[in-house]
Amino acid sequence: MKIAAFVGSNRKESINKKLALLMKERYKEELEIDILPLEVLPMYNQDDELTPPASVLEIRQRIKDSDGLLFLTPEYNHSIPAFLKNAIDWFSRVEKVMVNKPAMIVGATPGAMGTVKAQMHLRQILNSAGVGAVTLPGNEVFIGTVLDKVNEQGELVHEQTLDFLDQVVINFINWSEKVK
Ligand code: FNR
Repeated sequence: MKIAAFVGSNRKESINKKLALLMKERYKEELEIDILPLEVLPMYNQDDELTPPASVLEIRQRIKDSDGLLFLTPEYNHSIPAFLKNAIDWFSRVEKVMVNKPAMIVGATPGAMGTVKAQMHLRQILNSAGVGAVTLPGNEVFIGTVLDKVNEQGELVHEQTLDFLDQVVINFINWSEKVK
């Protein structure tokens, strides 16, 4: 199963970016995870949507080629970062390449609440008409107090969390097969 992955943080040492890399390696037998280079996207402007830059066309094609979507997002002020919203806005217009794609959300934060509020917003956004991605109710990964769960390189090493992540990924794959 080909997965287009959206990482919601543009900072170099992003925990969520490291989590995307970990998932790409950990689930390589089951999933071909393509981490999209969202940092090449300009700020969305409706004036440009019919003649978008090459960066938009290139990523749009990668999303089109995928069987499902994976979002890994921090929480910024109880929502998703503008960086992620910008990418979603680009691909929700003209060619709506996310419509009907099964989507899974993961989020990590040093805070206690595990990005729960950002993920609630993200689910609502994904289920909008322009985006049209579908999410499995209850299949959620909230990684709170993440700095206690990573090693010195910032990689997730907390066994219970990894076991839980494995289960959510299995649920996602099984459900995606059914909704295809
Ligand atoms: C944050 N952070 C944060 N954390 C959280 O749990 N809830 C929140 O509402 C916020 N709000 C927030 C706003 C802004 C502007 C910043 C920069 C940060 C902290 C955030 O979880 C932390 O910086 C993470 O490490 C960001 O994720 P990455 O970049 O490591 O993936």
